[in-house]
Amino acid sequence: MVYSKILSCGAYLPQKILTNKDLEKTIDTTDEWILQRTGITQRHIAADGELTSDLAFEAVKNCLKNYTKEFGKVIESVDCILVATTTPDKTFPSTACILQSKLKDIGVASSFAFDVQAVCAGFVYGLTIADSMIKSSLCKSVIVIGADKLSSILNWQDRTTCVLFGDGAGAVLLLAQEGNETQKDGIFHCKIDSEGEHNDILKTSGGVGKTGNAGYIEMDGKEVFKHAVTKMSDSIKQIASHCRLHPDEIDFVIAHQANERILDAVSKKLEMTKTHFVKTVGIHANTSSASIPLALNHCLQKQLVKRGDKIIFEALGAGLTFGGVYAIW
Ligand code: ACO
Repeated sequence: MVYSKILSCGAYLPQKILTNKDLEKTIDTTDEWILQRTGITQRHIAADGELTSDLAFEAVKNCLKNYTKEFGKVIESVDCILVATTTPDKTFPSTACILQSKLKDIGVASSFAFDVQAVCAGFVYGLTIADSMIKSSLCKSVIVIGADKLSSILNWQDRTTCVLFGDGAGAVLLLAQEGNETQKDGIFHCKIDSEGEHNDILKTSGGVGKTGNAGYIEMDGKEVFKHAVTKMSDSIKQIASHCRLHPDEIDFVIAHQANERILDAVSKKLEMTKTHFVKTVGIHANTSSASIPLALNHCLQKQLVKRGDKIIFEALGAGLTFGGVYAIW
C-alpha cells in the first residue's frame, strides 16, 4: 500500500511589515477596530518587483533546507511542483512553471509543474491532489506550495478589505511511503468541496477575460463569515467521523487564517476544548493559500507540532471552495 507523508515544511514572508498603526495614517481605520474584529496586528507586504514565484521560491528553499537538516539527505529532484495561488506572476505561463525554472537553476529538477486556483482553500486542494497523485503512483514526490501576493489585488483605499490581507508563501514536501494495512503516519483522508452558487460573495472586481486586468478584492464580509464557520465546522466533523476520531482526539486544527473570530467560532461550535486551534492571523493577516503552510511552519519552528501529532488542515475560500485533510505528522 502506498501512502503520502509530509516530510518537511518551509515558509517565507517578505521583509516589509505593515502594522495597523501604519494603516491608520493612510485610511480611516484604527488599530482597535482591526484587532477587535479580526485579531490582526500586522501583515507582510512584498517589495516592488517581488512576485509570487519569488515568495514561493524562498519558501521551497527553506522547505528543502529543513528536510536536509532533519534527514541528512539532499533533494535533487521531485516529480511535481504544484503551486496554489490566486495571484500568479502572469496570466500564463503558470507560476509553477516559472518556479520550476528557478528551482532547476539551483539544482532541483522536476518532471511537471502546474497551478491550482481554489483561492484560500488552494493549499488544501493542492494537498488533496498531491496525495491522490502519490496514491495512484503517478508521483513519488511532490512539492505543494501555497503562495500569494494579495497586496497586488487590494484597493488600498477600501478600508473594508485592505486591512485584512498580507503576502507570503509556504511549502511542504510530500513523499510516497510504502506501508501495510496499519499505516501509522502521513495523510489519511482528504475531502474537498465547492459550491459555485456562492461565487458572488467573495470575488475580484475584474479579471483578464472581463476587464483586461485583475481587479480588486470585494466581499460580503458577514456572508463569508457565516459560511466559513458553518462549512469549516461541518467539514472537520465529517473528517473526524470518517476517520473514527472524536474531535477532541485531534491535537491541532491548522485552519485557513482569515480571522481569529472565525477560528474561535469553529472551535466553540465543535466543542473542541482539548484541541489546539493554531492562530497566526494576528501576525500574518490573511495570506490566502499561504496561510496554512505558514501556520504549520510557525508551529514547527516553535516546536509545538511533533511527529505523531494528529492534525486537521482545514480551509474555506472564494468559490466557495472548502475542505480538509487529516494527517498524522
Ligand atoms: N476600520 C474602521 N471601520 C471599519 C473598517 C475599518 N477597517 N471596515 C469597516 N468599518 C466600518 C463599516 O463601515 C461599518 O460602519 P457603519 O456601521 O457606520 O456602516 C462598521 O465598521 C461595521 O462594519 P461591518 O462590515 O458590519 O463589520 P463586521 O463586524 O462585519 O466586520 C469583517 C467586518 C471583519 C470583514 C467581518 O465581516 C469578517 O470577519 N468577515 C469574514 C470575512 C473575512 O475574513 N474575509 C477574508 C477573506 S475570506 C476568507 O479568507 C475565507
